[in-house]
Amino acid sequence: MTTVIEMQICLGSSCFSRGNKDVAIYIKDYLKQHHLEGKVVFKGARCMGNCINGPNLMINGRITEGVNLAVIESILDKELAKLK
Ligand code: FES
Repeated sequence: MTTVIEMQICLGSSCFSRGNKDVAIYIKDYLKQHHLEGKVVFKGARCMGNCINGPNLMINGRITEGVNLAVIESILDKELAKLK
């Protein structure tokens, strides 16, 4: 059975002002480059109630805070390693 990971990026206004749009674009490109589009369900979400620590990314129900372009690659490498 194929492992599927669900990732949701917060699309609330606070996370938007902190750069979630650039992170979302990066994630989409990353999934494409690593041929993970069929194994990762990636979508947007409403405010997660954790604005002060955003941008927030939820992976299988667990929130990762402070997700920006400086750290997103290492987060994806770690979280998605088992899918590669
Ligand atoms: S806007 Fe992202 S947690 Fe509130």
